[in-house]
Amino acid sequence: MNRLAIYPGSFDPPTLGHLDVIERASKLFDDLIVAVGVNSSKNPMLSSDERMEALCNSVRHLANVRVEQFSGLLVHYALDKGAKSIVRGLRATADFEYEFQMAMINRRLSDDVDTVFLMTKWEHSYLSSSIVREVAVLGGDYAGLVPQAVNVVMQRVLSARQDRS
Ligand code: PNS
Repeated sequence: MNRLAIYPGSFDPPTLGHLDVIERASKLFDDLIVAVGVNSSKNPMLSSDERMEALCNSVRHLANVRVEQFSGLLVHYALDKGAKSIVRGLRATADFEYEFQMAMINRRLSDDVDTVFLMTKWEHSYLSSSIVREVAVLGGDYAGLVPQAVNVVMQRVLSARQDRS
């Protein structure tokens, strides 16, 4: 049996914490789809295509990982792909309520898909896309917070934004 899992998220932008979860999940499952939710934010810093580009370039070293976009309900997408597992990363206690609620509603929507949580590495426990966005937009150094390939896309997007203003 081929064990396929989905790792969904907004990934605006993907962080080193996301990449760590992807690398660890890729060892637990035969195949992993990193699924970029296209409708997850109304005012994203990176477009879904830019998030896709950043993620694709960050996971090139992982042969069993591919990156896709999805819209609509996550469980419908997972069932459509034939995946029985959704992977989510968990940081300390702050994520728990949101993740619990999401796992419960997803289970209610389909009993055939289960959510698997991976604890973040300690060194990434303070990292989130929103904190990286804030640092980046306000001109701080975010290079050590995101994979190098994400850094490249962010630099391009932010300098184009600066040129326009
Ligand atoms: O990285 P995020 O923002 O925590 O990811 C959230 C995401 C995209 C996984 C979540 O919003 C999602 O699954 N959206 C699809 C719509 C859906 O299925 N909603 C019901 C479960 S919350």
